[in-house]
Formats: sequence, C-alpha cells, structure tokens
Amino acid sequence: MMLPGLPGLSDLRIGFIGGGRLALALAIACRSAGLRVASVASRRRESAEAFCGQVEGCRASDAQAVSATCDLVFITTRDDMIESIAASVRWRPGMAVVHCSGATSLSALDSAVRDGALTGGFHPMQSFGDPLAAVRSLPGCVISAEAPDAELARVLGELIERLGCHANWLPPGVRARYHAAAGYPSQFINVLLREAVSIWSTWGVAPEVALKAFLPMARGTLDSIEARGLADSMPGPVSRGDAKTVAAHVAALDALGPAHRAFYTSLCGRTVDLAMERAQGLDDDACRTIRATLAEESSSG
Ligand SMILES: NC(=O)c1ccc[n+]([C@@H]2O[C@H](COP(=O)([O-])OP(=O)(O)OC[C@H]3O[C@@H](n4cnc5c(N)ncnc54)[C@H](OP(=O)(O)O)[C@@H]3O)[C@@H](O)[C@H]2O)c1
Repeated sequence: MMLPGLPGLSDLRIGFIGGGRLALALAIACRSAGLRVASVASRRRESAEAFCGQVEGCRASDAQAVSATCDLVFITTRDDMIESIAASVRWRPGMAVVHCSGATSLSALDSAVRDGALTGGFHPMQSFGDPLAAVRSLPGCVISAEAPDAELARVLGELIERLGCHANWLPPGVRARYHAAAGYPSQFINVLLREAVSIWSTWGVAPEVALKAFLPMARGTLDSIEARGLADSMPGPVSRGDAKTVAAHVAALDALGPAHRAFYTSLCGRTVDLAMERAQGLDDDACRTIRATLAEESSSG
C-alpha cells in the first residue's frame, strides 16, 4: 500500500509535544517564516496555553491529538523523556516524528517507526535559554539533522532553509560524540573563563571585573581563528616556544593547588600539539622542554 507522502512546507501542519524553551522559539520562528504551527501538548495545560498565546493559530491539545492532527511532530521534552513519550502515543503511518536532542539516538523513536511514522533528529546548534533571544539569533545558525528516509530529509532540509539556517547532516550512530564535541565551543568556554576568573580572584579581583578583561580577548581569539585557522592563529607562549614562561605558569599554579596545575598542564599539552601544526611549527628543542616541564611532578604533592 502506498503511504500518503508528507505535504509541502506551506501545507505541513507542525506540532510540538513539550511546550518548553526550544519549542516556543522554534514555533515562533516557523510562524514568522509563514509555516503552520497547528498544535502543542505539554505536561501542564497552562504551559501549552501560554505557548499558544505567543504562536498564532496554535491550539493547546494532548499528545495523542497532536499526533492525530499534525504531519510533523517535534518531541521537545527533556532528552530522557523522549523515548517514553514516543511510546505512549499512537502515530499515523507516513507522518514524521522528530526529536530535538543532540545526543539522543534516533532509536528512542523506534515505537513511532513501528507505527509506520518517519523519524528524525533536528538539533539547532544554538542556546535556547531565552526563547525570544533565540528566535532573533536563529537565522544563520547550523541545525544538525538526521533523517534515514529521503522524504523526511527533504522536508527537514527545506524547513532549515526557510528558517534561514544551514543544515549539517549527521550520519547514523554519531549523535553522542557529535554532541560531546559541541560542548567545547559552548559549555567548556564557560569552564575556561571560570578558571581564569578564579585565578584572578586569588588577589581579590571581582569576577565581573575579570570577565570584562577576558571577554574582549576571547572575542579577538575567535575572530583570529576565523581569519587564520586554529593552528596559525594561536597566540600565547607555547606558540612562541617560550618554555621559560610556561615553567613560570606551572610553578605559579602549582602554588595555588594541584587542580589548577593539572587543568593547565592538560590544556597546555594539547596546545603543544596544536603549535606543532603551525606553518612555522615549534622547534623540537622548545617542544621537548615544554613537554618536560608539563610532565614534572607537582612540588605540592
Ligand atoms: N535549551 C537549549 O538550549 C537546547 C538547544 C538545543 C536542543 N535542545 C533540546 O530541546 C529539547 C527541549 O529542551 P528545552 O531546553 O526546551 O527544555 P525545557 O525548556 O525544559 O522544556 C521541556 C518541556 O517539556 C514539557 N514536558 C515535560 N514532561 C512532559 C510530558 N510528559 N508531556 C509533554 N510535555 C512534557 C515541560 O512542560 P511543562 O512546562 O508543561 O511542565 C517543559 O516545558 C531537549 O531535547 C534538548 O536537548 C535544547
């Protein structure tokens, strides 16, 4: 039996199960792009109604009704609830069920596949802490998509384009490592800056004062990376082969405690690797001396 295909974008009825931050931002962006957001279900009725207040034409419903009335349903609950929600709903053959989690495997949607639905992943590489700010910053972002079925891949590709975003297609089986990697340009920047702030705080600098000094530096670093690439744009003593300064850093951080030293030496080891990749790479002597300094035992035990 031929299944009905997914309608084109302008006729596609889009629904959400989970009326949280990402769902609201995505729904507003879809509406602004002239698409139909038909219904939303959430754990609390008031969340769904508040959602509808901001998304024209959208009706608050329950999850089963979202499945019955939409062609493309985004499951936008917390990652660990996707599988049980997918299993609690009866899906229609030929419709599409898509989750927005970065790390969760598409196998979480296997019960929808058993009902005959097409399944996929749709993970915007953007932060949705504030939905209205996210709507503004969505155009130009990358959305990582996965869709084993060609028809759903076409629809998701068109949707990504209509939202003004760029598609990054994920092959099967890589989601957890894809998402782990995405932590480096996001949450780990917070961790790096936190360490820098905490070191300055040891002589009484307030965190906001330290951040004010670090942020322009961090932005400048990103601009240089964009202009000259990761290795060739890298600043700092390792890139200059300045082993003496690295040794002074290690000794100073050792005095603050083993955790500060260990964090620095582990990052610095990777910095040496990257400096070796520069067009004018580190010379072997500098590289050996820096690595030996990093490998020395901590004097604070
Ligand atoms: N936030 C981000 O920056 C971001 C970025 C990329 C991808 N994502 C992904 O997007 C998804 C949603 O994240 P989020 O940050 O938007 O989460 P969120 O703000 O916590 O929203 C989740 C929503 O799920 C609803 N919910 C909980 N249990 C439910 C149930 N049984 N049935 C229906 N709805 C239920 C909650 O509804 P009530 O309000 O009714 O309690 C809540 O509003 C996750 O998969 C996440 O990994 C998030």
